[in-house]
Amino acid sequence: MDKVLIKMMQNDKETIYKVSSKQTLLAALYEIKETQNASLTFNAGCRASVCGTCAMRVNGREVLACAYKPKEGDFIEPLAYHTKVRDLKVDKRTTLDTLVKAKAWLHHYNETTQLTPKDEYLTERQSDCIMCESCYSACPVFAVNSNFIGPFALTRAYRYVEDRREKSTTYIIDAIQNNGVWDCTLCGECTIACPKGIDPKNDIVMLRTKSVQQGYSDPNFSFGFGTPDFGRDFGFDPSTG
Ligand code: SF4
Ligand code: SF4
Ligand code: FES
Repeated sequence: MDKVLIKMMQNDKETIYKVSSKQTLLAALYEIKETQNASLTFNAGCRASVCGTCAMRVNGREVLACAYKPKEGDFIEPLAYHTKVRDLKVDKRTTLDTLVKAKAWLHHYNETTQLTPKDEYLTERQSDCIMCESCYSACPVFAVNSNFIGPFALTRAYRYVEDRREKSTTYIIDAIQNNGVWDCTLCGECTIACPKGIDPKNDIVMLRTKSVQQGYSDPNFSFGFGTPDFGRDFGFDPSTG
């Protein structure tokens, strides 16, 4: 069987492994563990893209190792913005706390509300989240603000704000104002990274609309809308006529 070389950083030095081609990255990692380095450490579970545990980065992009086929020269890294435990294994506890920060669950459950198939369709996509945290790893906001609630918790927040059984969305909307919806740059990296086709960026846009409906506004525009300041270097000064 053909072999491909893959690289990863281990103990602060680049290590190159030769692995069989025509297999998933996760299978390649098991091959390394069984034949070359028994101490190689990574997370894995279902091997079928449903448990979310095997997310890592290849050449700077997030993938599920159980779904990705390695190519010659690939550089494998753990998820970004997570505390590394060892090799490709990261600590996800801090990240999962963002769900608590977002208060992303049903607060006032209306037991008499029957969900129609159309209601379920509204939150079907968000409910597919496997908590792989690829979107979190891809989000550039964490480079400057480690307190950002982040994409998957905001997508989960939207899922419950849209749930017709929730009698009051106030708790969730209040919880996502600081380090939440307004801190997102709408760059869309989370949407690109998601292996389940979820669109956290759009969910955040929808949450901004819900926030405005509940009386909040973008704090970045809190100075109000006045005559724009084009500045002297803009080429012309509209106030001079
Ligand atoms: S769209 Fe927002 S949440 Fe998604 S990656 Fe960009 S900044 Fe992060
Ligand atoms: S939204 Fe997508 S990328 Fe983010 S944790 Fe859920 S499944 Fe993973
Ligand atoms: S091992 Fe479960 S998603 Fe890859």
